[in-house]
Amino acid sequence: MDDREAIASNVLGARVGVLGAGQLGRMLGLAGRALGLELTFLDPNADSPAKAVGELLVSEYESAEALAQLASARVVTFEFENVPVGAVKALEARGTVFPGSRALEVAQDRLHEKTCFRSLGIATPKFEAVSSWPELAAALERVGLPAVLKTRRFGYDGKGQAVLRSEADAQAAFQQLGGAPLILEGFVPFQRELSIIAVRSRSGEIVSYPLVQNHHEGGILRKTLAPAPGVSEELQRVARRHIEKLLLHLDYVGVLALELFEVDGGLVANEIAPRVHNTGHWTIEGARTSQFENHLRAILGLPLGATDAVSSCAMLNVIGMAPDARAVLAVPDAHLHWYGKEPRPGRKVGHVTVLAPDATTLEERVAQLERILSV
Ligand SMILES: Nc1ncnc2c1ncn2[C@@H]1O[C@H](COP(=O)(O)OP(=O)(O)OP(=O)(O)O)[C@@H](O)[C@H]1O
Ligand SMILES: [Mg+2]
Repeated sequence: MDDREAIASNVLGARVGVLGAGQLGRMLGLAGRALGLELTFLDPNADSPAKAVGELLVSEYESAEALAQLASARVVTFEFENVPVGAVKALEARGTVFPGSRALEVAQDRLHEKTCFRSLGIATPKFEAVSSWPELAAALERVGLPAVLKTRRFGYDGKGQAVLRSEADAQAAFQQLGGAPLILEGFVPFQRELSIIAVRSRSGEIVSYPLVQNHHEGGILRKTLAPAPGVSEELQRVARRHIEKLLLHLDYVGVLALELFEVDGGLVANEIAPRVHNTGHWTIEGARTSQFENHLRAILGLPLGATDAVSSCAMLNVIGMAPDARAVLAVPDAHLHWYGKEPRPGRKVGHVTVLAPDATTLEERVAQLERILSV
């Protein structure tokens, strides 16, 4: 089926294949079910959250047999960023995958990612590739302290990185991380962290959500405020321009997230995620169309849905604990999402989105929820 035929044909009952079956897959599946889609997930973990919302193929990502089964879907996508690029390429040889392997390759390597930002005129922290102690020492001379040393690949939730404030820190971090290719970044003295999510459909239509403000603790996202308070039209425009450049450069189809630092009124890019993103979970209740629905619309070539916020809201991650659902839901306009995972320290097991008519009420509701969700 060529692209025009695919777009023209009806999608009701169409099968969507998904690499990965975590909570992102589960929420994609919930949105997909509403649209009448069937979902098949591929994940090595038999106990994956998405098994509740579709068929789950339990297998390694690179199994030829499993990939062949997945490739028979109308379109294939991924919800996990560290799926082997080889698996995505194998799928591309047999069918349609969005976003494609090119975007995945760029996003999987922090060096490629930052080089890509730089080539598009998007500001980044200072950065240098590092693969030995002499290279790190030389890079520190140019980048300066404080700095952040990160593995180029496979980092998530702040894992595989260390903040360096002294040469002793650098030695200790290199001991720990030096077995893999690294990147040294200048530490950005940001006022706050923001992110933007945009969607490009296979017909070329682009929409973007309002900038949101993110709070991390110990490298893990704790809270998102949506829309980010006090964002000027100009800042929103700059963020939108950045992500649109990336969408076009990567010939991207689907949801793309861009994490940013706000420094002195300007934006510095941290990283992209080539998938639905934790800082977009608020869109389920807080926006006219959720990121999950819009991702599916985009990869199926359907018209995209409106991205305006319906209210100011906050999204709180539930980390390492099982909250009292009754207490959470007693907070006005709070919505609980539970991923069906066993709580373990530092593990994201659910989230709560709370809406409010004004900033003060939102603050009160967030404070109430933070008490309930603290371990
Ligand atoms: N160069 C930097 N300067 C200042 N803070 C930084 C820098 N890089 C990362 N951080 C902090 O560490 C957090 C995690 O970093 P990053 O996004 O690179 O890693 P990650 O493991 O991919 O995280 P996640 O999976 O949560 O997106 C950032 O959100 C930010 O708070
Ligand atoms: Mg990040």
